Amino acid sequence: MPLNDFGNVGDAYQRYSDGIRGRIRHELVFQVVAGLINAGGTVLDMGCGGGEISVRLCEAGFRVLGVDTSSEMLRRANMRKAQLPEQARKRLNFEVGTIENFEPGQTFDAVCCHGVLMYLDDSCAAIQTLADHVSPGGVLSILTKNALSNGFREALRGDYTLARELIETGAASSIGNLGISTRGDNPSAIVDLMKQFGFDDCQWRGIRIFSDHLDADRFNDSMADALIALEQAASMRDPYRIMARLFHATGQKVR
Ligand SMILES: C[S@@+](CC[C@H](N)C(=O)[O-])C[C@H]1O[C@@H](n2cnc3c(N)ncnc32)[C@H](O)[C@@H]1O
Repeated sequence: MPLNDFGNVGDAYQRYSDGIRGRIRHELVFQVVAGLINAGGTVLDMGCGGGEISVRLCEAGFRVLGVDTSSEMLRRANMRKAQLPEQARKRLNFEVGTIENFEPGQTFDAVCCHGVLMYLDDSCAAIQTLADHVSPGGVLSILTKNALSNGFREALRGDYTLARELIETGAASSIGNLGISTRGDNPSAIVDLMKQFGFDDCQWRGIRIFSDHLDADRFNDSMADALIALEQAASMRDPYRIMARLFHATGQKVR
C-alpha cells in the first residue's frame, strides 16, 4: 500500500487510536512533549494523521501546524479541529505535505514525528530533514517502533511460531496494528542520529511495555490510570523499557 494512501486504513487507525493501546501511547507521548516546549511555542506535527497530538497540543496552548501526505487523514484532522473553540482553532492548521518536501528553512520550537518512520525504508534521511526544521533550543520528538522487542507482542498473544521466527532471525519488521508491515529501529541508533544532527539532552522512553498485548477483553476503563502510571514509571528504566513495542526519543537542538 503506498503511504499516501494511509487514508485507506483511516477507520482502522481511528479504532486503534481510540482503543486502550492508542490511548496509552497518545497520553504518554503528549505528557512528555507538552512538558518540553515553552508556553505558546510553535509545533510542526509531521505525519499528523487524524490530528490526535496536534489537537492535544493546540488545546494545551501551543500553535500547531499538522502536515500529512494523506488528504483523507487531513480531512479527519480538520473535522476534529472544527470541534474546538474558536480561539483554539486559530492556533491550529493542517496542510498536505511530506517530510521530504516540506518547505526548507521553516523552523519550529518543536517538531513531532510520531508513528511515521516505521513506514519509511530508512530513518536517517528523515531525521536529518526533521532536525533542520527545529529552531535552536527547540525540541525534536520521534515516536517509532522498537526493533529490539520484535516478537514480544506475538509471544504474549500466543503466536509462538511467528514470535520465534522474528526473534531467531532478528527481523526489524513485522506486521503492525493495521495489517501492514512496519519497520523498527534501535532506540540507541535513533538517539545517536539525533546527537549527530545537533541535539543534546537526548533521551528515549519505552511506550507500551506492559500493555502492548492488551485488547478490549483484557481491559476496562477503571484500569487506565494505574496502567498509565505504571508505564510512566517503567518508561525510562532498564530492563523494562527495552521490551516496549514503541519508543519515544526526544532531544533539544543545540543553540
Ligand atoms: C500511523 S499514522 C500516525 C499519525 C499520528 N502522527 C499519530 O501519532 O497518531 C502515520 C501517518 O504518517 C503519514 N505519512 C507517511 N509517510 C509520510 C511522509 N513521508 N511525510 C508525511 N507524512 C507521512 C501517513 O499519511 C499517516 O497519516
